[in-house]
Amino acid sequence: MNHQFPDHLVKSVERRVTGRACSNVALAKYWGKRDVSLNLPYTGSLSVTLDGLETTATVEIESGKTSRTILNGVLTSGPEADRIRGFLDLVRLAAGSRSVASAELASNFPVAAGIASSASTFAALAVAAAAAYGVSLTATQLSILARRGSGSAARSIFGGYTEWLPGEASDGTDSFAVRLAEPEHWRLGIAVVITNERPKSVGSRSGMAHAAKTSPFFPAWLTSHEDDLADIRRGILDRNLTLVGETAEHNCLKMHAVSLTSRPALLYWKPATLAVIETVYELRAGGIEAYFTIDAGPQVKVLCANEQIGIVAAALANAPGVKRVLRSGPGNDAHVVEAA
Ligand code: DP6
Repeated sequence: MNHQFPDHLVKSVERRVTGRACSNVALAKYWGKRDVSLNLPYTGSLSVTLDGLETTATVEIESGKTSRTILNGVLTSGPEADRIRGFLDLVRLAAGSRSVASAELASNFPVAAGIASSASTFAALAVAAAAAYGVSLTATQLSILARRGSGSAARSIFGGYTEWLPGEASDGTDSFAVRLAEPEHWRLGIAVVITNERPKSVGSRSGMAHAAKTSPFFPAWLTSHEDDLADIRRGILDRNLTLVGETAEHNCLKMHAVSLTSRPALLYWKPATLAVIETVYELRAGGIEAYFTIDAGPQVKVLCANEQIGIVAAALANAPGVKRVLRSGPGNDAHVVEAA
């Protein structure tokens, strides 16, 4: 992103662009950074973009105005707003502009509760901010940009099945997501089980830094990760639910084992989280293929055949402590909705 526009062009920029992106759920997780400031991961990760769980971001540039951040209708300041402003500034500098941008963000699912809202937020912001500042980026460049806001956002630029390549370069130019398969390739059923709507106490960002530093299991997490990636990649291409599901569960439990063995320990689960895991085991014992995965929070995502999502969602809704169950599947690319 080395675009430098002449001053007379940028000064007159007055634009308002709305972008939208879906959240995603990692089947092989990102947990640990080799570079904290650039969000460069130690390992690759692999995810499905979640249809219907969206963030809409409107970025507005008006010369001479100060920057405002509105989150779900509320004017916000503090660290959250600073992070968004810092991100918008990356795009502003790439555009060579002096005009700061304001952002208005709305997500249609519980934010900061372990459904990667930062993924959809920064993917939506990336497409909207790039368009608002008139910086033309390829999908790969958008993924690199989104990664700067939040690592998992790199994957939400693409719909369907996505792999984030960790890269090796110290400047992050080779650390971006690629599409493994379009949503139509495999209409997997994904039940998003909400067990708790309150924001989590330890976010992914500090959780993974803490785990990488203090868990004796962290080296084993790193060395065993490549095999999981290979199996899940192959499973997706073959539409093999057993292989994808078993490996995703295993990878998730390793991530939580690393967190549990940090000092002090990090326990993201609530009693209802465990009740959902047991329901998944019962479904399997009854001949219905369902597999769980859990990110840095108490919610659970359950994978199943699309034709069985009704039965699976109904069983999960009955598990003790479950608040609600959202039905999803592979979603679409991040995109611009409206530009004025
Ligand atoms: C457990 O992408 O939220 O959901 O890069 O610090 O913003 P930052 O972290 P973030 O971490 C997501 C962690 C995870 C696993 C995953 O999505 O791969």
